[in-house]
Amino acid sequence: MSTDTSAQAPAFPLTRGCPFAPPETATAFREAGAPRRVIIWNGTRPWLITRHDQVQQVLSPGGRFGADVTLPGFPNTSSAQPVVEGGIFFRKDGDEHLPIRRILNPDFTAKRSEALRPRIVELIDHLLDELPAKGRPVDLIEEYALALPTLVICEILGVPSEWRHIIHESSKKVVQLSLPKEEKLAAHRTMLDTLSRTMADKRSDPDDGLLSRLVNTWVDEKGVLGFEQAVGLGVLVIAAGHETTANMIGLGILALLREPEQRAILLSNPKKYQSTATEEMMRYWSMVQTEPRRVCLQDTEIGGVLIKAGEGVICNLPAANRDPDVFAAPEALDLTRVERKHIGFGFGIHQCLGQNLSRVEMQEAWPRLFHRYPALRLAVDESELRFHDDALTYGLEELPVTW
Ligand code: HEM
Repeated sequence: MSTDTSAQAPAFPLTRGCPFAPPETATAFREAGAPRRVIIWNGTRPWLITRHDQVQQVLSPGGRFGADVTLPGFPNTSSAQPVVEGGIFFRKDGDEHLPIRRILNPDFTAKRSEALRPRIVELIDHLLDELPAKGRPVDLIEEYALALPTLVICEILGVPSEWRHIIHESSKKVVQLSLPKEEKLAAHRTMLDTLSRTMADKRSDPDDGLLSRLVNTWVDEKGVLGFEQAVGLGVLVIAAGHETTANMIGLGILALLREPEQRAILLSNPKKYQSTATEEMMRYWSMVQTEPRRVCLQDTEIGGVLIKAGEGVICNLPAANRDPDVFAAPEALDLTRVERKHIGFGFGIHQCLGQNLSRVEMQEAWPRLFHRYPALRLAVDESELRFHDDALTYGLEELPVTW
């Protein structure tokens, strides 16, 4: 077993040479086989984990790696992170994590998300009806990819759909990695204040939405959550629940535009291929590009390297999901691929809460768009597309199309 003592380590987040592939450095680290150090914004040197089996080892339940952003050595995304996220269950472990997650689980089960499918289809069809009125070219990120999950999450929470712009502007700032701390904190404060007012109103005017149930059932009736804690959960669901799916919908549209044979397969029988297509898009894009992060709680060997208690680790999902030891021809997009071993929604106890909902949205969004607009094409040269490299999640800034 060895410990890496090299002073040389690449700066993280890593940059991509090709927008359709993981960063070359992450791929090279995976090929070398062992965790390697990277340098983050505060000069610390957490380990980057790039192999599929090693990422699973880090994220497996068993207590060796913690998700608490306030623990010494945690590889925070910025100095704002412990302040913004420190009190929320998804950045906690054990008893501070699971009981709170259980409060949210029922709203995001496979059954509940499946029951939303008809409404999701209705929202999709409405957005597609509206596209011609927007003029051509139209930015499909703004008018479709982002609009759909934001409308869906607004309905689940029980907030007016007009909120979607405030929600988006604020949560975009929170996930942008290089934004100054003050701006991040201000954006987070805007979301907290807005939700706080709404949730207080729901005490006298309850409804079936999640926000209303959080305050009326879990704060007032059962006394399990404090009011501030319930507001924090609302903000988390908003922040985690719209831009993630939006990025995936946008990236998936781009992939289908670039790969007509794959598009033809999906459109030949959407019911048959929508599920494998969605899993493959999740694997291929691995949109969460700078997470999951953990801190080592107990000395642990990973890939022949000793990771010491108190050292940070960052899992690289894009590299892990193209691991040739797990996926045949990993660089190819193959919408008929049946292996479901991708870890694009994470792995272990912190695995994505909203994955069932996202799946339904993606499964319907891609085929319905291309059926309605079969002549859809990029309105700019592919080289002009801008991707968010500087964010927790990968995605397109805009996707101008015409038909
Ligand atoms: C394509 C869309 C999405 C992707 C790729 C994605 C990805 C992920 C990943 C990789 C994690 C694990 C983080 C970790 O282990 O540290 C995670 C956790 C989480 N996701 Fe998602 N997510 C998506 C959509 C959503 C949606 C729609 C929601 C809405 C509720 C959501 C809510 C959450 C929450 C609350 C957690 C933390 C769970 C916990 O710690 O127990 N996500 N997501």
